[in-house]
Amino acid sequence: MAVITNIDDLKRIYRRRVPKMFYDYAESGSWTEQTFRENSSDFSQIYLRQRIAKDMSNRTLATQMVGHDVSMPVALAPVGLTGMQSADGEIKAARAAEKAGVPFTLSTMSVCSIEEVARKTTRPFWFQVYTLKDDDFMRRLIARAKKAGCSALVITVDLQVLGQRHKDVRNGLSTPPKLTPKSILDLSTKWRWGLEMLGTRNRFFGNIVGHADGVSDPGSLASWTAEAFDPALDWTRIRHLMDMWDGGPVILKGILDVEDAKAAVAVGADAIVVSNHGGRQLDGALSSIRALRPIVDAVGDKIEVHFDGGIRSGQDVLKAMALGAKGTYIGRAWTYGLGAMGQKGVTAALEVIRKELDVSMALCGRRDIHEVDRDILLVPEDFEGRWAAN
Ligand SMILES: Cc1cc2nc3c(=O)[nH]c(=O)nc-3n(C[C@H](O)[C@H](O)[C@H](O)COP(=O)(O)O)c2cc1C
Repeated sequence: MAVITNIDDLKRIYRRRVPKMFYDYAESGSWTEQTFRENSSDFSQIYLRQRIAKDMSNRTLATQMVGHDVSMPVALAPVGLTGMQSADGEIKAARAAEKAGVPFTLSTMSVCSIEEVARKTTRPFWFQVYTLKDDDFMRRLIARAKKAGCSALVITVDLQVLGQRHKDVRNGLSTPPKLTPKSILDLSTKWRWGLEMLGTRNRFFGNIVGHADGVSDPGSLASWTAEAFDPALDWTRIRHLMDMWDGGPVILKGILDVEDAKAAVAVGADAIVVSNHGGRQLDGALSSIRALRPIVDAVGDKIEVHFDGGIRSGQDVLKAMALGAKGTYIGRAWTYGLGAMGQKGVTAALEVIRKELDVSMALCGRRDIHEVDRDILLVPEDFEGRWAAN
């Protein structure tokens, strides 16, 4: 078995094992990918303060996210199509999260349906919805999540229109993959992936096919998706969608601006996720880590502020927590693990991050994740940018 020392090790194996089309789907940002790259690289501008001769015994990372106990402040972000990264991928990831004691968030665009994931797991997971135009579909989708026992609703608010990812266009991304001479050649080298995929019936968008009007066969899905997102979304509509859910906390995901964070407080959300969709939407937007502190300073005492974007290590989690996040999410990091080694790979990704977070926290002289604050950081004075007045 391969030795896994960090998230990059998982990424290397992932690249070898999963068809190029799906690797590219995960490993890309919109347009020039500037925001995608900076989400990760901006972490390295922040330094950690090494402390010594502090009691580093009996450490704990346990905390809560939206009132739910978590063994560390790291949830699995909603990632679409993970059932194509590995057969029944959503079930494998949910099980790994369950074992690790962290939340799993199922995407609307998952391959395994809400019901299927609920059947194959023992603990409630969170469910993510996109803001779609079709009120009846939204109502039914949210009711299905409630019925399946989901314990929090994540509403993704940064995808009214879709940012373009060049690789997906070039690859003609589809679920399941279309057979062209190029994709057949690629698939022939990914036999392990193919064999596993033959063993499952979950190969389409399980939450949508057969549930949305006019989408009974996967062929009609592409046109439905293009039409489905609501470009006219506003705060009244967000409140309306929140009202469809009475199954626990509501988390608004995809906030990068202080004004929008204030509006999220006003609309009554329980938490926000400072996020730019992993650099997949507005290319040229600030990295999430640069957007975090001003948002925490503006609304951190009124709403729980969560964070995602660019996390590839426990040190990254530590920095986000020190800047004031109450919890973080990983997207690609667990996807690499899943594609590399299925459930074991997701577990490995979580364990890598847990260990890095724990030891780095200790080396900063802290024993409890609740004691982690800005004092452990050295942040450049202009990290958030000094911008010309408009
Ligand atoms: C392949 C892929 C698919 C994604 N699908 C969804 C999705 O269905 N719903 C959603 O809200 N966010 C989606 N996201 C965004 C993630 O939830 C998260 O915001 C992002 O991955 C965080 O950045 P990171 O990958 O650098 O950790 C997706 C991200 C990736 C990489």
